[in-house]
Parts: sequence; structure tokens; C-alpha cells
Amino acid sequence: MTDKIKEYIAEAEAFTTANKEELEAFRIKFLGKKGILNDFFAEFKNVPNDQKKEFGQVINNLKKAAESKVAQIQEAIESKEEAKGVYGDLTRPGEPFAVGSRHPISIVKNQIVDIFSTIGFNVSEGPEIEDDWHNFTALNLPEYHPARDMQDTFFIQTNPDVLLRTHTSSVQVRYMEENKPPIRTISPGRVFRNEAISARSHCIFHQIEGLYIDKDVSFADLKQTLLYFTKEMFGKSKIRLRPSYFPFTEPSAEIDIYWGLKTETDYRITKGTGWLEIGGCGMVDPNVLTNCGIDPVKYNGFAFGMGVERIAMLLYGIGDIRMFYENDVRFLEQFKSSI
Ligand code: DAH
Repeated sequence: MTDKIKEYIAEAEAFTTANKEELEAFRIKFLGKKGILNDFFAEFKNVPNDQKKEFGQVINNLKKAAESKVAQIQEAIESKEEAKGVYGDLTRPGEPFAVGSRHPISIVKNQIVDIFSTIGFNVSEGPEIEDDWHNFTALNLPEYHPARDMQDTFFIQTNPDVLLRTHTSSVQVRYMEENKPPIRTISPGRVFRNEAISARSHCIFHQIEGLYIDKDVSFADLKQTLLYFTKEMFGKSKIRLRPSYFPFTEPSAEIDIYWGLKTETDYRITKGTGWLEIGGCGMVDPNVLTNCGIDPVKYNGFAFGMGVERIAMLLYGIGDIRMFYENDVRFLEQFKSSI
């Protein structure tokens, strides 16, 4: 009989479950009123006296094995239930969370930066709150110069020397003050103008400025650089430089790209001409070089400036500049697949 009990001990020790009902069945089988243990206890009186001691010990071992098994499994189940209470069902599938998208202005800015960086331009930045020198005077726009009216300026409080930069050309000045030629830099950034907000213009927008200073730089270098850019950016290989005026460049030009006249939209955005203006450019005025501590006899170069919103509107067919600043997710989500 002790062999039979030992078999039960082995069975109790090997038992395992994570299920409450199965554990209860085990408990009843071994420790219940009509369970195995009670059966053996009832047998006790029939055991010969000389075997009683040994019988008592094995039966006690069985009792211990069954009781400790029940306690151990019960604790495991309870602690699992506790964890469920705090964390929920740890095996359920994760909840998907919304992945953001880059803002179209950032996407276009990054593309422009990539294109110019492959031909050796680095990226430079300057402050949005500027002084008169960097935004105007050093760029050949002394006080009372009529061309200051080309850009309606936000002044900070009543101090006319502190203003929100009206263009990223201010970064040209800062870069030349701090770096010696040869210079090849582009400066992306936010600019501010005191203008009425409409579908076509906003008081906050973004520009990318380009500056190239070295020995013997020619207008042809400027044109080839811009041509390379428009090919890479728009896949268009026809540009036109239309004579214009900027105080900081001489000669100056407006950059037009030939967009084509294939669709109705082409007609609308080019006003039936096929040509689109994307920025201004020119050979840096010698006065600007002098103002920034660069000898205009030894060095010359070119500069250009482009509006990022305008380029983004062309690329994505966006009809209203205000959409860039409203941050409506229905608008922003459309750029999810872009870099
Ligand atoms: N700063 C000019 C503007 O905001 C754009 C510009 C034109 C920048 C010609 C240049 C340039 O560097 O050479 O309208």
C-alpha cells in the first residue's frame, strides 16, 4: 500500500495547471472529503501495528505534497489575475498609434537642401529677430532707401533697429561676416512681412537663400547652378533670367522656369504664358561685399532667393497658402508617404 501512496505523491508533485477548475478537481481528488487522503486515513486502523509508523509518514508526505501543490498553483493563478487587473490582457494585440507626417514645407525645404548639398553648398542659419544692419543696411539698403518699401516690415515695439527679418538675405550678411571665401551656402528660414493675408500671400512664409563667393565667378555660373536646381527639383530644363532690380545684386534678375502649357492648370498658374517665377537672383553688389569685410576687387559671386511655399504649392498643386499654417490633419495626412 505504501507503494501506491508513493505513486500518488509522484503524481501530486508532477501536477501542473494554470486553470482554476483543474486545480479544484485536483484538490478534491486528493484532499476532498471523499478524497484519496481520507481513504488512506480510513485504512490506517487496518494497518498492522509494526507498519503503522512508516504508513503514517508516507501518508503525511502525500498530504504535504498535495497541500503545497494546491497553495503553489493558487498563488501563481492569483498573481496572474492581479497583473491582468493592472495591465489588462497582456496577450491582446497592441493598439495602433497614429504616426505623424512631415510638414510639406519641411519636405520641400529638405529636398532643396539635398539638391544643393550635392554640389557643395552647406546650410547656414540666422536669427528671425534681426537688426537693421543685417536685414537692410549691409545689403545696400541704407536708411531712407526707397527700396525698403519693397518689403513691409514688422518692427519690434518702437525700436526701429529691431525687426522681424523680411528675407533670408540677412543670413548672407552674417555668413560673410564670419567666413572667408570661397563660400557656398544656402540658408533656409522663416521670414515675416506686414502684408494682408490671402490665398496668395501670408505675413509668415519661408525662403531659401543661396550665396556663392569666390574668384572669377560669372553670371553663367549662376545660370548653370539654377538650371541644375530646376532640373532636379521640377524635372524642367528650360529657365529664363528676366532683368529686374534688387539693391543687393547688380545685375539682378527674376528666375522663371518654363512650366509648359499642357493642362488647364498649366494655363491658370502661368496665366497663359507657360512661364512661372520662382525667385530672384543676381551678382552680389560690390557694396555688399565691402560691408561684410570681403574685398570686391579680389572676390565676386552670386546670390539667389526663393520662396518655399511657392515651390510647394507648384509641386503639390496647393491652391491656398493659408493651408500651410492651419495644420488641419486632413491636409497634413496627405503628405504621409513623402520623405
Ligand atoms: N531677398 C529677396 C526677396 O526677399 C530675394 C532675393 C533676390 C534674394 C535676389 C537674393 C537675390 O539673394 O540675389 O524678395
